Amino acid sequence: MQLTKETLRKIEEVIPRYPEKRSAALMVIHLVQDELGSISNETCVWIAEKLDLQPINIQELITFYPMLRQTPWGKTHVRVCRTLPCALRGSYATCQKLESKLGVKEGHVRDDGEYSLEFMECLADCGEGPVVMVDEETYENIDEKEAEKLADLLLKDKLEKSTEFTSYEDALVSAPVKIRKISPRKRK
Ligand code: FES
Repeated sequence: MQLTKETLRKIEEVIPRYPEKRSAALMVIHLVQDELGSISNETCVWIAEKLDLQPINIQELITFYPMLRQTPWGKTHVRVCRTLPCALRGSYATCQKLESKLGVKEGHVRDDGEYSLEFMECLADCGEGPVVMVDEETYENIDEKEAEKLADLLLKDKLEKSTEFTSYEDALVSAPVKIRKISPRKRK
């Protein structure tokens, strides 16, 4: 297992922030997974040694939390919210459309490793469902019809530059900051 100097530095920095080494376990796992994409058995042993724990202590965290993985997702990972508000607005149909367009079953990685698809619980954007995440970008109101267009762009590697779909994160960056002026008379 090989980690970059940057990840090793972050790990060394994060451990002393906790009163006990074992308390840093989730932070260390996340840092490692961010770089490697998953936590293999070998990695599990390495993290355990780093934190003076047994590999089973790391293993039980990885198998408990759905965001932690023992095998990597695809090169592009797509998540669909299935919690009630999104489900009522059609997220199951969205997921089925993405399954057929991307050629991968929910919960799986496509054979060539290009795409993976996963149902998630609430992605914290309930008023704009169905919500879909493509890697770290969030797309709102992706019903079955929109899912078809989104998948087409994704397959052509044109989603990121598309004017049709702007992710929540990109919209935040490009939105002008509105400063409300308060007239002197209203000031107290
Ligand atoms: S229910 Fe889908 S984002 Fe909250």
